[in-house]
Amino acid sequence: MSSRLFAKKSIDDLMSQASDSKTGFKRALTATNLTTLGIGAIIGAGIFVLTGQAAAQYAGPGIVISFIISGLACAFAGLCYAEFASMIPIAGSAYTYSYATLGEFLAWIIGWDLILEYLFAASTVAVGWGGYVVSFLHDFGIHIPTAYTAATGSVLVNIPDIGWQQVTTNLVSNLHLQGIDINSLPHVTAILNLPAMFIVAVLTILLVIGIRESANFNNVMVITKVSVIILFIAIGIAFIKTANWHPLIPKNTGVWGHFGWSGILRGAGVIFFAYIGFDAVSTAAQEAKNPQKHMPIGILGSLSISTVLYILVALVLTGIVSYTALNVADPVAVGVNAMGKGMFWLRPIVKIAAIAGLSSVILVMLMGQPRIFYSMAKDGLLPPVFSKVHPKFKTPYVSTLLTGSVALVLAGILPISILGELVSIGTLLAFVIVCLSILVLRRTNPGLKRPFRTPWVPLVPILGALICFIQMAALPLDTWLRLIIWMGVGFIIYFTYGIRKSKLRNSGNIP
Ligand code: ALA
Repeated sequence: MSSRLFAKKSIDDLMSQASDSKTGFKRALTATNLTTLGIGAIIGAGIFVLTGQAAAQYAGPGIVISFIISGLACAFAGLCYAEFASMIPIAGSAYTYSYATLGEFLAWIIGWDLILEYLFAASTVAVGWGGYVVSFLHDFGIHIPTAYTAATGSVLVNIPDIGWQQVTTNLVSNLHLQGIDINSLPHVTAILNLPAMFIVAVLTILLVIGIRESANFNNVMVITKVSVIILFIAIGIAFIKTANWHPLIPKNTGVWGHFGWSGILRGAGVIFFAYIGFDAVSTAAQEAKNPQKHMPIGILGSLSISTVLYILVALVLTGIVSYTALNVADPVAVGVNAMGKGMFWLRPIVKIAAIAGLSSVILVMLMGQPRIFYSMAKDGLLPPVFSKVHPKFKTPYVSTLLTGSVALVLAGILPISILGELVSIGTLLAFVIVCLSILVLRRTNPGLKRPFRTPWVPLVPILGALICFIQMAALPLDTWLRLIIWMGVGFIIYFTYGIRKSKLRNSGNIP
């Protein structure tokens, strides 16, 4: 039984699965497309929303160091992904890699876990998208009824001069300190987050229509967000007041994680979300023109470009405005405000860049998920309908529609905080397993053709796995419990469905 649970797929089988004629996918993506796909998935809510909050609450200007630490962990994991993606260019990403190295059961676990990364990330970022769109439309005098702009059941209160805010314990105590009784303010209980649902629906339809159309849309979004980020950095440099960087690491308040070095570490855990997405490139392996060569370029290229941009934005932002003013939903816009009235024209442009940025993240996440389902269904672990490719559009349309529908419901009813932490823990687990899998495969299959080799093995995979695990350990207990429950549901599905239908197990090719 146990040897069957850990039965592995042979690399030869995997390679034959990758051949064009059998998959129905269109090989349309170039190295540039893959790099922009990666940047599309990476730059989003992390930089446009979380950077300011992490600087204000945990790291101060030292958030730059947090970005370097988190970027390093992702670079180690990225190098391991690049080796796998060039060696096994199949749509399933970490799921497929673990099928070849750790066996079917762990592959299922990782496939199930990846839903937390892709599908849940799409919903998380859609909620962030909704926030930016509501605020952008508000600037132009267009108001969406408040009850339709937040998670079901959340309470929003209208604060004079500020506008509608979601009620949290922090908000209540802040208002209390200012002598404002929250019950005296108008409030509303939210019904659904309609803008978040809207963007998921639109992008799902685009993804069904075609990979090339989706890649083109992504390219436009990526060009928009990257140009505006570069513009912000270039203009912002002139407004830096070096006094804002002193002290670089504010003194710890006496509480772990609140400034000092522990704050830098906690900041790194929070902004890890900003790096999620480079691995999404690997889900498009079967649509790449030359996956062996171009996958590593797409993964490592997008990660490097984003890391450099993040570090520069963090430096400029904490240089032009005191970190204490950045605990807001739109920190980059606050940075623009600090540049003075003459620069106000940049405000709507920054909001447009954020909306574009978040759109491409949602798109690539909604693109990655069905491709993982596709591979799992091909292996018999999910029903065959998940691997149906549209005869005309050449896209996995059934799983795309299903992913989009679930993401749409989650985006409509859940708050961003619960979603975001689940995404981080799920992604970190995937990274740990991919790093460990590199070690396993180097041992069990040393002679395999590796068009890209992770350097300094075993150091890089060990450090990658270790840093990612430490970041997981720093997440709240609630998030761990949700992960365990999610995995429990996965176990039930595997032992009631996958184990019976697995093609590998039914092929008789296992010991
Ligand atoms: N890295 C992506 C973002 O920051 C998930 O939105």
